[in-house]
Amino acid sequence: MAVIAVINPKGGTGKSTTALVLATTLARHGASVTLFDCDPNRNLVAWKDGPSQCPITVTEHGDSTNIGRTLRGEGGRSQFVIADLEGTASLMVASAVLAADLTIIPMQGSAMDATQAHRAIALIEDQAAASGPKPYRVLFTRTKPGFATRDERAIRETMASAGIPIMATDLAERAAYRSMFTYRQSLDELDPQAVNGLDKARENADALASEIVEILRTAREPAHV
Ligand SMILES: Nc1ncnc2c1ncn2[C@@H]1O[C@H](COP(=O)(O)OP(=O)(O)OP(=O)(O)O)[C@@H](O)[C@H]1O
Ligand SMILES: [Mg+2]
Repeated sequence: MAVIAVINPKGGTGKSTTALVLATTLARHGASVTLFDCDPNRNLVAWKDGPSQCPITVTEHGDSTNIGRTLRGEGGRSQFVIADLEGTASLMVASAVLAADLTIIPMQGSAMDATQAHRAIALIEDQAAASGPKPYRVLFTRTKPGFATRDERAIRETMASAGIPIMATDLAERAAYRSMFTYRQSLDELDPQAVNGLDKARENADALASEIVEILRTAREPAHV
């Protein structure tokens, strides 16, 4: 079992998209997945109300006083528990980070996103100071494969030189990821006649899921002394 929190206090950085892509991809590979929609906008609950047959459980959660217990409790039943948080820095977000085995911070390659990603990292490090190591990764979203803007390159370099761990895989800009919400289906269920670039989107999603599984596996191995 693993609990993954997806956070960034800035709105619209790709949190819900990342959470849904990850959840549906892990499920496609046979894992049991519970997705907690902790955002009052309930985009993921709305997605589950659609026609998708993807066997993930989507649960809404709005109580910051028991989010940690709920995520860990559910973790006993599902192999992966993924929490999609609201775009704000709140008690709910801090408690979810505390309960998580891994926190993912999706951000786009802009200075404003980077500032807010740093706020998320400060929040994680604050939790870590009280409770021990809290693994996290920055995930660049909506990137153009093979073309990084100058801003994006500069931001990556600044973060890397500050020792901030960045995922090797990005979540690229793909119409297919938007279409998942439009048609309320998984990448596998979308109609290739209606949605461009499904193969590339699936490939990217697979790479993202494998990297996250690998990070979790490594984090779990006992440290060498
Ligand atoms: N990789 C991507 N490719 C294409 N569109 C994307 C991608 N990631 C996000 N988007 C689009 O960007 C917008 C914001 O994404 P999303 O809702 O996932 O962000 P969020 O961080 O969850 O926002 P909020 O803070 O409001 O909850 C949406 O319209 C979504 O469809
Ligand atoms: Mg969201």
